Amino acid sequence: EPADKLAAFQARIDADGRIEPQDWMPEAYRRTLIRQISQHAHSEVVGMLPEGNWITRAPSLKRKAILLAKVQDEGGHGLYLYSAAETLGVTRAELIEQLLSGRAKYSSIFNYPTLNWADVGVIGWLVDGAAIMNQIPLCRCSYGPYARAMIRICKEESFHQRQGYELLLTMMRGTPEQRQMVQDAVNRWWWKCLAMFGPPDSASVHSEQSMRWGIKRISNDELRQKFVDATVPQAEVLGVTLPDPKLKWNPERGHYDFGEIDWDEFWQTVNGHGPCNKERLGTRIKAHRDGAWVREGALAHARKQRERAHK
Ligand code: ACO
Repeated sequence: EPADKLAAFQARIDADGRIEPQDWMPEAYRRTLIRQISQHAHSEVVGMLPEGNWITRAPSLKRKAILLAKVQDEGGHGLYLYSAAETLGVTRAELIEQLLSGRAKYSSIFNYPTLNWADVGVIGWLVDGAAIMNQIPLCRCSYGPYARAMIRICKEESFHQRQGYELLLTMMRGTPEQRQMVQDAVNRWWWKCLAMFGPPDSASVHSEQSMRWGIKRISNDELRQKFVDATVPQAEVLGVTLPDPKLKWNPERGHYDFGEIDWDEFWQTVNGHGPCNKERLGTRIKAHRDGAWVREGALAHARKQRERAHK
């Protein structure tokens, strides 16, 4: 790749400028963005499933309306992100094929089961809370279409986080059994949410280059720490215990210390062997197959329109 173009590209990023689809960019930058944006899109779409499970079992009309809206938002996020990835010269069909064949990654977090209604609240509070922490810096990503998509996504994620926290506050004001359900859900999700931020910086293969390219602005470990620091006081207000005996304020660091994440379990899950990986992919494959007639219909319609226009 020509050195002068590379230098101009890096200078634009260093000056906090944005790269747009028609601009020259190094091939590795393009590939990194396709990887990250498509993994992100897949996560949104697979992320509809754990909660979608609860739409027909929501305890009231109000909760059902909120949950429906939230799950639809996740679908919408997937669509903006696939569109952002398409500006880099890849087709949505290729990306979906990668997901359905099991070759593409998506967030580890969506491979765990939702066992009780409190899981819906905890996903909002902790999973979407972690997602926002990771996604706010992406609004300043060097690639324009991704950064712009993230602004709207973050606004919607913020609503998701709040509805989850409010759901949990309501349950905590309920019966002892309801409080127990919330604590049980927090126990099962806490560590998985900490792992969502990705491997420790020392083991994160892409971080250094992605930071230099302005794709990532804050490292995996720093974001994880920010999430812990923000969440502990929220857990206190809620009245739940975070399941980590090592969680403790460290006045010297000005941060909470916390215990060791089980990275073996994380990689098992990322590599397809988590508790729900097969079920999640199976559901997506079936949905894709069941939707084939819609795609065929839309293509036939487009063909007819084109033929008519040529007459
Ligand atoms: N789940 C699955 N895979 C992960 C996770 C995770 N939680 N964290 C890291 N990985 C994967 C990376 O994708 C990468 O795999 P690859 O090389 O096959 O592509 C590998 O582990 C190494 O990790 P890093 O070098 O740290 O990778 P990266 O610099 O891409 O950082 C991160 C990972 C932080 C997830 C980044 O890609 C990112 O910010 N993505 C956008 C946000 C996103 O996808 N959020 C999805 C969940 S939120 C939601 O949808 C509600």
